[in-house]
Amino acid sequence: MKKKLVVLTGAGISQESGIRTFRDMGGLWEEYDITEVATPEAWERNPELVMKFYNDRRKQLYECEPNAGHLGLAELENDFDVQIITQNVDDLHERAGSSKVLHLHGELKKVRSTKYEELVYDLEGWELKFGDRCEKGYQLRPHIVWFGEMVPAMEEAVPLVEQADIFVVVGTSLNVYPAAGLLHYTRDDVPLFVVDPERPPVYLRKVTFIEEKAGRGVAILKEKLKKLC
Ligand code: APR
Repeated sequence: MKKKLVVLTGAGISQESGIRTFRDMGGLWEEYDITEVATPEAWERNPELVMKFYNDRRKQLYECEPNAGHLGLAELENDFDVQIITQNVDDLHERAGSSKVLHLHGELKKVRSTKYEELVYDLEGWELKFGDRCEKGYQLRPHIVWFGEMVPAMEEAVPLVEQADIFVVVGTSLNVYPAAGLLHYTRDDVPLFVVDPERPPVYLRKVTFIEEKAGRGVAILKEKLKKLC
């Protein structure tokens, strides 16, 4: 029986694939005001701007590839029962070969009904347009969790973390809740690893920090995990 390895990832793991992070130097939130592109109020007030923001990011995603960090996590499935829990809305974990990926904040390549949130669709191509409607005739919106909206996937994520034998954090500043709070659902005896060139605020028990970018950091992590198989 393979040990359960749970990995919480954030924008940092996709940075080496060319996808911008949010709060780093040059991050997205340096250029865009969150309240203008990533809230339900923004969608009500200026849907064209919000639609363009996500169309632009979706279009860019088609030009990006998984990096060594994504691939390294996928390879860990040879030795562990790996569950990725990601805050990212890109599909790079899936494209790298990870078989269990839970998206907390939605998925860029999916859209959903503005009226019936359970009506979720894969978007053909990168551009969502006004007039694209769900099967019941309502406008489609990005399938993204905006600030101020509920994070339904937490219901599934918490038990996964509680059952983890090993918990890893890669590439997240742990600024955004409830995602950042998942750390606190780990059992006290569970080894914690953090891969990030900057130390995010983790004050729990003993943590093994790997202060590297994901590409190199995940390779070092794999070496350390060999002893825990
Ligand atoms: N490899 C690993 N980590 C990296 C790399 C890299 N190449 N580059 C940057 N990082 C780290 C940064 O040091 C930082 O800790 O990744 C983290 C990025 O933090 P944020 O930009 O805050 O991204 P994230 O934590 O994923 O944001 C969480 O906020 O904007 C919302 O919904 C959005 O899911 C997002 C959430």
